[in-house]
Amino acid sequence: MTANPFLDADRVRHDLYADADRITQRTSALARAKTTGAHPATVIADLAATGLHGTVLDIGCGRGTTTLALAERLTPPTLIAFDQSAALLAETEHRLAGYLGVKSMRGDFHAIALPNSSVAVAVAAFCLYHSPQPAAVMAEIARCLAPGGLSITVTKSADSYRTLDEVIAASGLDPEATSRPSLYETFHSHNQADVVATCLDVQQVVHHEHRFRFTDADHIAAYAATNPKYQLPYDADEIAKRLRKTIGDGPLETASTVTYVVASRR
Ligand SMILES: C[S@@+](CC[C@H](N)C(=O)[O-])C[C@H]1O[C@@H](n2cnc3c(N)ncnc32)[C@H](O)[C@@H]1O
Repeated sequence: MTANPFLDADRVRHDLYADADRITQRTSALARAKTTGAHPATVIADLAATGLHGTVLDIGCGRGTTTLALAERLTPPTLIAFDQSAALLAETEHRLAGYLGVKSMRGDFHAIALPNSSVAVAVAAFCLYHSPQPAAVMAEIARCLAPGGLSITVTKSADSYRTLDEVIAASGLDPEATSRPSLYETFHSHNQADVVATCLDVQQVVHHEHRFRFTDADHIAAYAATNPKYQLPYDADEIAKRLRKTIGDGPLETASTVTYVVASRR
């Protein structure tokens, strides 16, 4: 197993995204905690609306939250939801049933089975940090883009949720929580624009500060139990019990920067 679970291809395929449950629990615990920060799907759709009209490709679409926003805001002639997880693609298809022109494509984003210059807008949100070589994925995106086509990539800061790491370490639940590599180590807020610039012209870099307040130990545990950074051999109830005994019943405030890079093909 590699030190960073987000770069462990087996875990990414067979554990983290094998079904929709884990990502849904993780996303909903975070969404309940959010106090500041625009919804990324809305920001992405607004940025994408400035691109060429034509085929839109949503790479690493997951459960289709961004795909749905793109369908509603852009009504493109063709919208391709792309992911390697069959279960998440099925969820996206279900959520987008009824929208015209939506197709799903299963594959690895290191080798996208689309012709050269066939895509007007490509989105890759919260997924390129699963590649040990995100520049190779950017080269694939650049190959697929039509001249003048737009790429929108999105990731988080390497220090995201740092105070949560500190609490998990201080509680003794996972003393190494603060010394592990960031989940976002290969593609994060501060290297994203440089990686994109290896093959596209960067037009815009936007940083949004997102703030979170977990109300109590149960809320912290619901998120921590699904975060693969931690090595927690307990379920959420047990994590909450141990948190209450060691560091108390919360609340806990934490933060993450979400960074959007808009780039175009020469
Ligand atoms: C956090 S989810 C993305 C969420 C989605 N983009 C959104 O904005 O709601 C990360 C996604 O990347 C996908 N993924 C990870 N590695 C991949 C690869 N090598 N090729 C294609 N998809 C991959 C996972 O299956 C998962 O659905």
